[in-house]
Amino acid sequence: MIFGIKSVHLYSILISVISLKTLIMRDSQILISKSNVIDNYNIIKKHANNMEIAPVIKANAYGHGANLLSGIYQELNCRMVIVAYLEEAIEIRNSGYTNDIMLLTPPLNYDIKDIINCNLETTIAEEETAFLLNEHAKALNKTVKVHIFLNSGMNREGKRPEDILKFTKYLSTLKYLKIEGLISHFAASDVVDNMFNTYQINQFKKSLFLLKSNGFNIPKIHIHNSSSLFNYPDSEEQTVFNLYRAGITSYGLLSNSTLAESVGLKPVLTLKSNVHHMIEIRKGETCGYNFNFHANSDGYLAIIPIGYADGLSRNLSNKMRVIINDKYYKVAGYISMDLIIIDVGVDPVKLGDEVIFIGKSNSKEITVYELAEYQGTIPYEITTSLSHRLPRILV
Ligand SMILES: Cc1ncc(COP(=O)(O)O)c(C=O)c1O
Repeated sequence: MIFGIKSVHLYSILISVISLKTLIMRDSQILISKSNVIDNYNIIKKHANNMEIAPVIKANAYGHGANLLSGIYQELNCRMVIVAYLEEAIEIRNSGYTNDIMLLTPPLNYDIKDIINCNLETTIAEEETAFLLNEHAKALNKTVKVHIFLNSGMNREGKRPEDILKFTKYLSTLKYLKIEGLISHFAASDVVDNMFNTYQINQFKKSLFLLKSNGFNIPKIHIHNSSSLFNYPDSEEQTVFNLYRAGITSYGLLSNSTLAESVGLKPVLTLKSNVHHMIEIRKGETCGYNFNFHANSDGYLAIIPIGYADGLSRNLSNKMRVIINDKYYKVAGYISMDLIIIDVGVDPVKLGDEVIFIGKSNSKEITVYELAEYQGTIPYEITTSLSHRLPRILV
């Protein structure tokens, strides 16, 4: 009998350890809608005419989870994804992604060996790096595909148009490099009717013509990013380019919500949590750090286990709102590192109720654009700030 009690006890400990393991995921989570990712991809494809789509999944897929997104794009038979840095490519490779990856940021010399080992394509903008890349590729008897970065006016990366032929000629002497692409980037593609875009396209076309007339037929020609595709949908320039780097559009966003909605893009991300604790507060009392909120009346505060360490900036304190039970509530006081306080007044909010930070309930919605506005920034910064501490779950 004693043995029986003991074994029941051991059994229940075992069960609770197992369930602890399965329940260990935080309540604060990012949900990623797979069907919206696929719908966005198809919308982009339709607008991109015959251009190949290369989703940009740098910065942890703009905060959405690079491993999840690369898996979806592999299922969609997308040939290539784009990241900024080598570490990002390695993470994706380690998750089992086997299609092509391009590094967007011209590599630093210490990255070079691993670019070859991980079988990556890369942009290139320096003779010295090209030389070292070629030497390492030669030693391993491999060929590395490179995309020449043209500085068409943004002055952030690349060779100037007047130097592009000399650089390309030099690259062509490096037998273990294959010139795969010519790439440039717009300085202000989200500004409609911006003459600088036309200037950059003209600089690009002139350089392309120069290279062609010197016998360089480069397979992949790319300048377009999210906004430029939708701001210049029918431009004849699109026929010059055959690869489209789809960044924020892949996540259903653009720098402006009206354009994103008008083309049918669907936001992919929901950020949610649960009420973990309820605190009673009396009129005149304060809550949180540094007395930044004063209660106007007796009521309750809901405490949510998410904070600025998860990417909800402290600048959103006393500004942002959340949705609980299909109703908006405001954040009270300063956002802490791990916790946020919500003023729920005397409403019947209870432990375990769902709290939406970004996303939709039955009749309410909080968008990435709304948070960007409160924070005085762009949607890109809101999603890329969401930290690795938050689990990403495909739904
Ligand atoms: C060189 C380059 N290409 C493409 C992109 C993707 O831009 P978007 O997210 O606007 O599509 C970026 C984004 O930072 C970039 O730096």
